[in-house]
Amino acid sequence: MASQREPAAVDVSLRLNGRDVTLRVPAHRSLLDTLRDTLGLTGTKKVCNEGDCGACTVLVDGRPVYSCLTLAVACAGKHVETIEGLARDGDLHPVQQAFIDHDAYQCGFCTPGQVMSLVGLLRENASPSEDEVRRAVSGNLCRCGAYTNIVAAGLAAAKAKR
Ligand code: FES
Ligand code: FES
Repeated sequence: MASQREPAAVDVSLRLNGRDVTLRVPAHRSLLDTLRDTLGLTGTKKVCNEGDCGACTVLVDGRPVYSCLTLAVACAGKHVETIEGLARDGDLHPVQQAFIDHDAYQCGFCTPGQVMSLVGLLRENASPSEDEVRRAVSGNLCRCGAYTNIVAAGLAAAKAKR
């Protein structure tokens, strides 16, 4: 009987929320599973696990990516940022604060992904138009239909950062 072989594991060094980390992960493991299961960073949500919903959005080198479609090994040498890394000294990031101020969530399951997409947008474009905010979250599904308030929060966060 053929024996089942363990998938190859590799060491991956990356920056995670501003700290250098080295992990041993199976070569096929997604960044999403690595964040949630290996590192216990469950703020990044797992919904479809196949690139349809955006709940798993994180920043890699400042750009929003679906972490369910990204291998952890592909992040070697890169900076991965998750929702857990946004607050500074107990102060929420302006996008997080704007979501609270504008009631931009209901169940909250899509919220970390929405927030990370908007943080990525504001890094590139400090004064986005409403259309640009809408485009930035167009890959983030909200089953609760909180879109109007999500867009309002994105625009308010841009103003707050100026
Ligand atoms: S969990 Fe990654 S896109 Fe849905
Ligand atoms: S707030 Fe429930 S899915 Fe967006």
